[in-house]
Amino acid sequence: MKRIPMARPTWDDEMRDAALTTLDSLQWVKGPQGKHFGQEFAHYCGAVQGTPCQSGSVALWGALRLLGIGPGDEVIVPSLTYIATATCVSLVGATPVFVDVESEHWCLDVNAVASAKTVNTKAVIGVHLFGQLCDAKLGQWCDEHNIAYIEDAAQAHGAMELTAPHRKAGALGDVACFSFFPSKNLAVGGEGGMLMTKRNDLAARMDALVNHGRDQRLESQELGSNLRMSEVTAAIGRIQLGRLEAWIERREHIAKQFSVAFDGLDAIQLPRIREGTRHAWHQYCLLAHDPTGLREALDAKGIDSRVYYSTPCHRQNVYSNHPQHTQTLPITDDIASRLVAIPVHHELSDEEVERIISAVIQSST
Ligand SMILES: Cc1ncc(COP(=O)(O)O)c(C=O)c1O
Repeated sequence: MKRIPMARPTWDDEMRDAALTTLDSLQWVKGPQGKHFGQEFAHYCGAVQGTPCQSGSVALWGALRLLGIGPGDEVIVPSLTYIATATCVSLVGATPVFVDVESEHWCLDVNAVASAKTVNTKAVIGVHLFGQLCDAKLGQWCDEHNIAYIEDAAQAHGAMELTAPHRKAGALGDVACFSFFPSKNLAVGGEGGMLMTKRNDLAARMDALVNHGRDQRLESQELGSNLRMSEVTAAIGRIQLGRLEAWIERREHIAKQFSVAFDGLDAIQLPRIREGTRHAWHQYCLLAHDPTGLREALDAKGIDSRVYYSTPCHRQNVYSNHPQHTQTLPITDDIASRLVAIPVHHELSDEEVERIISAVIQSST
């Protein structure tokens, strides 16, 4: 029986044709594909502008540069996240301040953010973890305190609020950052990312930043670098964007089947959807009493699984000199010790979904 992987990027003739046509055009960089991809993804998110770049990690670095954050500044981040959410802060010379997450929804806890605020707090990076939108109160709190709100939307393409005006991830903060790593909801056939903003005053600088901060005369006005996305990846991304809504619906359908089937199992706690929002289901994560046992049982049935963030960012060696290195973040630590992600990607067949459901039920009863 074929193994069921955690991710299976979509690749078909339309994408292959777009890639080859772009290569044949010999316009491999700085061309129309990147420009259109940025515009189309910004339109999808309801933002003013999208600027494609080379990865979600550099998008985060760029967001901090755009907002003028540097030495002496503090940026509040969760620790239950991919390491780039924190290291981007260190890379611009500022200090990441790690705070705990909500026990139900696993995103930044707004009360914990408020307690961590100091006179040096310049920004908050809210991670829409696994596709779950951060609490809308986080953006309100940032506005009230004149603190920049950066969305780490690397895992949240298509996550949205269900009430009008149906705001999507990417249009909630001052700047948002996406990743197009192959396992993400939207991929580009390689590495890729996008900076997104709803602020007109940042839009023009965003395009310049990924191009050494250069102006029309090709003179550098501010510190940037070559973070540009190649044309071929942008061409693939544009086609994937056209499929994104259908893929998210498929992920939602699968996640719903899981949650119905697993309801009532004592050995696992199910992921919750924040009220009034659409979860983008980048990952479907269970909290298991016996994560190792669950993973071994799935493995024996040919089903891949993953643990995420078992060493929260502040405990990793890169932060061995950080004052919070040994601090307990009770909810983060608890989630990190029990989390098991099972496949939920849009390419799963109905038969694979059934296999996953029966393997989880068998191992949990
Ligand atoms: C929450 C989060 N932030 C940032 C990133 C970095 O994105 P990239 O791998 O494209 O650099 C990722 C990628 O996994 C992520 O999951």
